[in-house]
Amino acid sequence: MNIRHKVALVSGGASGLGRATSQRLLAEGASVIVLDLNDDAGQTLMTQYPQQVRFYRVDVTDADAVEQAISDGFAYFGGLDICVNCAGIVAAGKVLGRDGALPLQHFSNAININLNGTFNVLRVAAEKMAAKGSDDEQGVIINTASVAAFDGQTGQAAYSASKA
Ligand SMILES: NC(=O)c1ccc[n+]([C@@H]2O[C@H](COP(=O)([O-])OP(=O)(O)OC[C@H]3O[C@@H](n4cnc5c(N)ncnc54)[C@H](O)[C@@H]3O)[C@@H](O)[C@H]2O)c1
Repeated sequence: MNIRHKVALVSGGASGLGRATSQRLLAEGASVIVLDLNDDAGQTLMTQYPQQVRFYRVDVTDADAVEQAISDGFAYFGGLDICVNCAGIVAAGKVLGRDGALPLQHFSNAININLNGTFNVLRVAAEKMAAKGSDDEQGVIINTASVAAFDGQTGQAAYSASKA
């Protein structure tokens, strides 16, 4: 896909790998809708690229907020072509640690953000991409997994499961 003049959405796009993805897309001439919880980093990115970035402080697990943010970004830039899901947490913790069994909430939280949150964003993105009508470059969705999905280390039960 030729990235110039395309509209991209990057979840977790204000920090780390997501920020690097945003910056690469911006350098290639795309506009970027950034969904992230990190308000400071997101606002900084929007200040640096006022014409090309729309930042929304959104939790990827929140169905209504994600829908609203993507709809707003879609209307602002007039389309959506690329979705890259980078929002995620590491969530380290042993199944059986010094303090006993890993709290279920710890496991659920990782699944909720890394898996449900990824699906929540891509389902809305897919709907926006489909609205464009059919051509051979209707859209692309990339989800960031991890080698931990195949080869989890000690303390990565929740993270490995969420990435698998
Ligand atoms: N860094 C690595 O070595 C590595 C390796 C393999 C996979 N990954 C994956 O790449 C992705 C990015 O990792 P990173 O190292 O850049 O991490 P990071 O912490 O720098 O970036 C993650 C971003 O996601 C955001 N985020 C977290 N929970 C969120 C939520 N509920 N809603 C919205 N935003 C949320 C954070 O605010 C942060 O800006 C993650 O999915 C991670 O699992 C990273």
